[in-house]
Order: sequence, then C-alpha cells, then structure tokens
Amino acid sequence: MQIRTESAANALSRSQRLTDINAPRFYAHSARTKMVTVIFRIKCIFKCFISSCMDSNVSITTLSAGDFSDLLKLADALFGHGYLNKSELQSYLHDPLKSGLVARTSGVIAGFLCMQTCDMDEMMSLAQGEQTWFNEQFSNNLPLGVLKTIGVSEPFKNRGIGTALTRKSIEMLGRSSRCIVSICWDQKEDTPFSRVMEKCGMKMISRVAEFWSMDSLNKNYKCHICGSPPCRCDGLIYQCMLG
Ligand SMILES: CC(C)(COP(=O)(O)OP(=O)(O)OC[C@H]1O[C@@H](n2cnc3c(N)ncnc32)[C@H](O)[C@@H]1OP(=O)(O)O)[C@@H](O)C(=O)NCCC(=O)NCCS
Repeated sequence: MQIRTESAANALSRSQRLTDINAPRFYAHSARTKMVTVIFRIKCIFKCFISSCMDSNVSITTLSAGDFSDLLKLADALFGHGYLNKSELQSYLHDPLKSGLVARTSGVIAGFLCMQTCDMDEMMSLAQGEQTWFNEQFSNNLPLGVLKTIGVSEPFKNRGIGTALTRKSIEMLGRSSRCIVSICWDQKEDTPFSRVMEKCGMKMISRVAEFWSMDSLNKNYKCHICGSPPCRCDGLIYQCMLG
C-alpha cells in the first residue's frame, strides 16, 4: 500500500515540476497549490485506507503466558530494561483485579495494555509519594480503574492500535469503576499518548514531580527518557469519569 502511495506522490511531483518549467509564474503557483492539496488529499485517503485495512487485521485478546517473552522485549525497548518483569506480568494473569490485553496484527504482537482495578490499598501503593493527593482526589471514587502501561511496537504505531487498546480497557474497567485514571511521563510536548488519551475522553488533571523516582530505584530500571535511576521524570495524571 505504501509503495503505491509513494508512486502516486512521485508522479504528481513530477508533473508539478513540469508545470513549474512551462507555465507563467502565477499559473505555476496556483497549479502548485492545487497539486499540494491533491497530494495531501491522496495521502489522507491512503492513510484512512491503510488504517481501515489494519483495523480489520488487528485482533485484541487477553494476555496469556505465551505472550510474555515478546511483551518483555517490547516493554524493554519502549520503557527501559526492567520496567516490566515476568513476575509482574504473571500477576496480570492470576490477580482477579488485574488484566492485560494484547493486540496482534496478522499473528504478530503489535501492542499491549496492562490495567488494574484498585481498592484503597492498591491505590496507595500506586500513588508512590503522592498518597495524600491521591486520597483527596480519588477516595470517594473507589474502586479506581487504572490504565497502567500501554505500548505499541514501532512498525505498528499511528494505526489506531493504542486507541483501540485504550478504549477496550476503559470499557472493561468501567464494569467495576466509575473513575478511570492513567499516569504517564511528562515529555514537555504533545505525544501520541496525550493524543490517545484525548481521543478516549481522558483529561490531564495533575502533574507530579519525579513520580517514578522511588519506583525506579526499587526496581533499578533505566528510564527511557532520563536514563539511570532515580527517574527524574514528572508524571502526568489523566482521568475520566464514566457516566
Ligand atoms: C502511546 C502509544 C501507545 C500510542 O500507540 P499508537 O498505536 O501509535 O496510537 P494511535 O495510533 O491509536 O494514536 C496515535 C495518535 O497520536 C498522534 N501522534 C503521533 N505522533 C505524535 C506526536 N509526536 N505528538 C502528538 N500526536 C502524535 C497520531 O497522529 C495519532 O492521532 P490521530 O489518530 O488523531 O492521527 C505508542 O506511541 C507507544 O507505545 N509509545 C511509547 C510508550 C508510551 O509512551 N506509553 C505511554 C505511557 S505508559
């Protein structure tokens, strides 16, 4: 599909160059504007077409033990070695309050999402050093549905997989929680994750300084953004209330 897109774009830019050489400046300018619009539209059409093809090929299933080795490789690459480990993944199989989703495209693991329903104790352990704030903010809305970790492998990004995983998990968590929360790294700029949150109705409600500092020391993982522990990244807290 992409090869066809590029050929169409090349053909158009070739004819655009010919227009530039042969036509008066005004007409060349107007032709160039039209051409850019046409190329943009063609790209949009192909992007939608490719996305819809991908969507029809993507399956989302619950996590199983057979997925662990691929998921750990993916998590190491996305979040830093050791951020997610086998015993933690196992808890998503055995703990009734935790679950995991795996997205596959033509049988290949393209992404995953881990989620948890938190009572007061679980929420306090999730809150790291911010227990007072978490208590004030969420204790009236327990149990809390938490989107813990989401990752999509590089070749499959920007095809709607992260959004599909998030929507599915909000639906699942919504069976027992009214309040859904997610915490992610502040990268000082718009990110695909912030866009996914926005698309799924989640709003950023707070920024917590050095949220993973203790966690990174305890688990000794190297943050993919700031490096060796302690992690100095701020955490952005997203929330949505379900009707
Ligand atoms: C966040 C992540 C899971 C998103 O997965 P994905 O499958 O690419 O997400 P989607 O395709 O559903 O949506 C991505 C959206 O971000 C947009 N986007 C891409 N790059 C962007 C950027 N730099 N800034 C803002 N938006 C961006 C895309 O255009 C798309 O929006 P659109 O559908 O309106 O066009 C994936 O990028 C990832 O694994 N990132 C690394 C791990 C991570 O940061 N996880 C979150 C914290 S746990």
